Amino acid sequence: MKTYLVTGAAGFIGSNFIKYLLYKKYKDEDIKIIVLDALTYAGNLGTIKDDIDNKRCFFVKGDIRDRQLADKLFAENDIDYVVNFAAESHVDRSIEDPQLFLSVNILGTQNLLDAARRAWVTGKDANGYPTWKEGKRYHQVSTDEVYGSLGAEGYFTETTPVCPHSPYSASKTSADLFVQAYRDTYHMPVSITRCSNNYGPYHFPEKLIPLIINNILEGKKLPVYGEGTNVRDWLYVEDHCKAIDMVVRNGRAGEVYNVGGHNEMRNIDIVKLTIKTIHDMMEKDKDLRKVLKKQVRDANGDIDISWINDDLITHVADRLGHDQRYAIDPTKIKNELGWYPETKFADGIVKTIKWNLENQKWIEEVTSGDYQKYYDIMY
Ligand code: NAD
Ligand code: DAU
Repeated sequence: MKTYLVTGAAGFIGSNFIKYLLYKKYKDEDIKIIVLDALTYAGNLGTIKDDIDNKRCFFVKGDIRDRQLADKLFAENDIDYVVNFAAESHVDRSIEDPQLFLSVNILGTQNLLDAARRAWVTGKDANGYPTWKEGKRYHQVSTDEVYGSLGAEGYFTETTPVCPHSPYSASKTSADLFVQAYRDTYHMPVSITRCSNNYGPYHFPEKLIPLIINNILEGKKLPVYGEGTNVRDWLYVEDHCKAIDMVVRNGRAGEVYNVGGHNEMRNIDIVKLTIKTIHDMMEKDKDLRKVLKKQVRDANGDIDISWINDDLITHVADRLGHDQRYAIDPTKIKNELGWYPETKFADGIVKTIKWNLENQKWIEEVTSGDYQKYYDIMY
């Protein structure tokens, strides 16, 4: 039986990751998952409450920077894999409060590395390097943003030099460098995945795609930074989860693997496509219109959806230091581990919109309170 310590699993990707392990990949296998999450604004226990059965999946509320807690988790459990999702993850927030990102993303990572080191080292080899218990792996969930920004051509490969621009990406890069320093200094069994932009269920509506969906449902304007020509490479979240577990289990120790599905789109095109997809879904199935907060009747007595069009778009001030283009070359993970993205964007966006329409209670929970204050300041 393998035991995972999954940090940040009350957030977007981490929650999808544990659901993928529990109900898809290891549905009929004995695994144990310990979730460690501080439940910040981005973490929601409701997202994973049905997954925590205290048999295969356990929840611990706590901070990845807490040394005593980390040591206790390793002392009480024979942890095989640490998968570190926990982070402050939003670029715009990092521009407002860089120190929080430095603290959580760098010190938190280093604290987990040290706790794993204390628990997993068995002795020393002839050259003085630590020797390690068999089969252990510390995995860092990183981002394509560590590579900086591309022009119109080219892709990020694993050998592209890191060149972060935002406080968020600087903190994630620094965390990656600590992971690699532990590999080189202590021969620690580590791995890193650097993935492009994810979308899918449980995506917090401060990020572009869920924000656009939520604003349409609320009848609000759709803020596009600058001209909207910046390009992101979108990947359905479950494809990312699959890649992470492949790397944890079968990826070579010490390596970086880029993850992305060659799905580059300009922000303005993503926004227009989301508008059109919602409109078309509601055109086909009138029942879906009931979720709209703006309920005006058309000439037929149906809920009007003619206002769901590109006029909702509003161009707002650009993000400071806004990276122009991200695009991942996933050749290494494809060739070494046979990973490929299963979900085409056209299907993934429909699934994501449907999930949002069907999970309004979750959206209301996460957008109440502090989110509203944040939204009012930002837009
Ligand atoms: P998220 O903001 O949705 O979730 C972050 C989670 O971490 C939350 O549950 C939060 O409560 C928890 N957390 C924050 N600070 C913590 C602390 N000090 N101790 C314990 N838990 C803490 O983030 P996400 O979008 O799911 O991203 C997860 C990871 O994947 C991050 O490391 C991010 O850098 C990386 N990543 C994200 C994307 C993306 O498109 N979202 C792409 C590539 C990589
Ligand atoms: O590339 C991976 C990264 O993707 C992850 O490491 C980050 O954790 C994750 O937040 C995401 O970062 P981005 O900054 O690319 O995602 P975001 O959804 O915030 O923005 C996507 C693009 O849309 C970006 O170019 C900024 C733009 N944008 C964003 C928002 C929130 C807008 O035009 N309007 C908006 O309101």
